[in-house]
Amino acid sequence: ISLKEYNTFGIDKKARFFTEAHNIEDILEAQQFARDKGLELFVLGGGSNILLTQDLNAVVLKINLCGIELLEENEDSVLVKVGAGEVWHDFVLEAISRNWAGVENLSLIPGTVGASPMQNIGAYGVEIKEIFHSLEAVERSTGKVKTFTQQECQFGYRESIFKTTEKGKFIITSVTFQLSKQPVFNTSYGAISDTLKAMKVTDLNLKAISDAVIQIRQSKLPDPKKIGNAGSFFKNPTIAEGQYQELKATHPSIPGYPNDEGVKVPAAWLIEQAGWKGKRFGQIGVHELQPLVLVNYGDGEGADIKALSRKIQEDVKSKFGIDLHPEVNFI
Ligand code: EPU
Repeated sequence: ISLKEYNTFGIDKKARFFTEAHNIEDILEAQQFARDKGLELFVLGGGSNILLTQDLNAVVLKINLCGIELLEENEDSVLVKVGAGEVWHDFVLEAISRNWAGVENLSLIPGTVGASPMQNIGAYGVEIKEIFHSLEAVERSTGKVKTFTQQECQFGYRESIFKTTEKGKFIITSVTFQLSKQPVFNTSYGAISDTLKAMKVTDLNLKAISDAVIQIRQSKLPDPKKIGNAGSFFKNPTIAEGQYQELKATHPSIPGYPNDEGVKVPAAWLIEQAGWKGKRFGQIGVHELQPLVLVNYGDGEGADIKALSRKIQEDVKSKFGIDLHPEVNFI
């Protein structure tokens, strides 16, 4: 079957076999099926962080485990267990409607709940590690369900153990979040406070923040339903303080945000300065409003997007001496 509908880039590549899992038994069954066929089991969530460059001679398993379950509640917070197949934004809206705080800044991020810890999704000053409690995952080699605590996941910027040492070893089936009933609003990100002001919000609340985030995202990020994309294609690089100061001397306008390892520089700025913003090459290109996003206008090929990303990397490297690393997984 074609996977075009199952990846937000809208790449038309095929899966040899395709099946969906609604529970853990389905997962184990699919695993057995793949083993019997001598094929790889390829696990798919919302398909919002992958770039398909070829047909998959594999058993593709779409994770559809659903449910939002309130595990515990006290005066200050709730523990909510969410099925891996729930759509992330639907969960955010549900949390807001119940007045559970913590995910409002993460409104409208494409993908599923099960994929969210993989790369510790983040936006507008918040990362999921801040509200993450634990997750359950099926260990592929044993078929057993294991629990991972926040510490065990080793979250970093767009990183977790599931992208490093445990890569490909587990299938996440649910994620438990600890959300607050006493909201601490995070409007530190300039664009949020500006948008709230423009919206004339006087009484800050979760819905208002969510609406502001949605407005910001819709104003510069392409809607994957209309133009194929996987959000930011690259991570924002962190460079040494010394290198940043040298670049500042030749490029006074270069933005930089100090962190523990050095200075984080917006990849969008580097790509724009290198002249790639809005560039279109047939069916693919660099988005005109947010150059960190590579796009498929319709019938683009994953391999072409991959080649374009390599060219951008080389160009940024030669112009600024900075390595860009993809956030998207090449398949
Ligand atoms: N910029 C430009 N030109 C542009 C756009 C941006 O130079 O056309 C520069 C500006 O200096 C701007 C800076 O980039 O201040 C930051 O831009 P933006 O606020 O759009 O955020 P970003 O760093 O490009 C990151 C995340 C996004 C997340 C936003 C908001 C990464 C790789 N990306 O993008 O996450 O939504 O911040 O918090 O960290 C994603 O991961 O898929 C994603 C969309």
